[in-house]
Amino acid sequence: MADLWQEAMDHAVAVARKAGEIVRHAVHNDMKVLCKSSSVDLVTKTDQKVEQLIIDSVKEKFPKHGFIGEESVAAGEPCVLSDNPTWIVDPVDGTTNFVHGAVFVLLFQLEFGVVYSCIEDKMYTARRGKGAFCNGDPLQVSDQKEINQSIIATEFGSNRDPEVVDVIFSNMRKILCLPVHGIRGAGSAAINMCMVASGCVEAYYEIGIHCWDIAAAAVIVEEAGGVLMDFEGGPMDLMSRRIIAANNKTIAERIVNEIKAYPAIRDDAPL
Ligand code: IPD
Repeated sequence: MADLWQEAMDHAVAVARKAGEIVRHAVHNDMKVLCKSSSVDLVTKTDQKVEQLIIDSVKEKFPKHGFIGEESVAAGEPCVLSDNPTWIVDPVDGTTNFVHGAVFVLLFQLEFGVVYSCIEDKMYTARRGKGAFCNGDPLQVSDQKEINQSIIATEFGSNRDPEVVDVIFSNMRKILCLPVHGIRGAGSAAINMCMVASGCVEAYYEIGIHCWDIAAAAVIVEEAGGVLMDFEGGPMDLMSRRIIAANNKTIAERIVNEIKAYPAIRDDAPL
């Protein structure tokens, strides 16, 4: 019997490679940078072109599948999961890195995750119940249980409201003073999560991200043996704009005890 999920995942890998070519080409040419919600929330013509490429190619092959795409939502499309299989697509995660010279592409379908770090040519893939891989090699989270021997990844995001910035700094201060070995940030939620899956860092947390920043890598973290948690300790809610991804429950709960969230609008809030 045909394995439709495998077919969809193989298609995602193929289209990610094509998207990677476009992104790599754009890095070496002029790129037109536009602003979205603020002067630090960036989008490029490449984000839009790559998202269209992905949507067109998936629609042709799987006409009944739904989409949530970062740039389509920015253009007014609803951000809701339909009853049909839904692809959650971030054409360039780490747009600010891209504008400044380093790039990542990611895409996703709820049953599997594909994150392509195209400059490094690292293809991260995972399918529910079948493990996580980078360029075909299995991924496994770190077995560290002591927070003070851990490295934590986080980001500042693009919200520059002084109260929000205060919460971000206060959270980082608490984590640093545990103390932890260090705090890192790759400039891409997806890559931070792939670092958790690879065992390079023990955990990643962020408030203000969107479902398309984390959806693909969420499957990759879980399939590498990691856990996803909400800031209040329950299961991660894809639409809640906050996430803790960790190597194990002990580290995730330790982070829950230290950090607090700020009110964020849900991704699926009515327009
Ligand atoms: C951003 C990146 C960044 C994170 C932001 C995201 P984008 O995604 O993942 O690391 O801090 O919160 O919005 O806008 O480059 O797709």
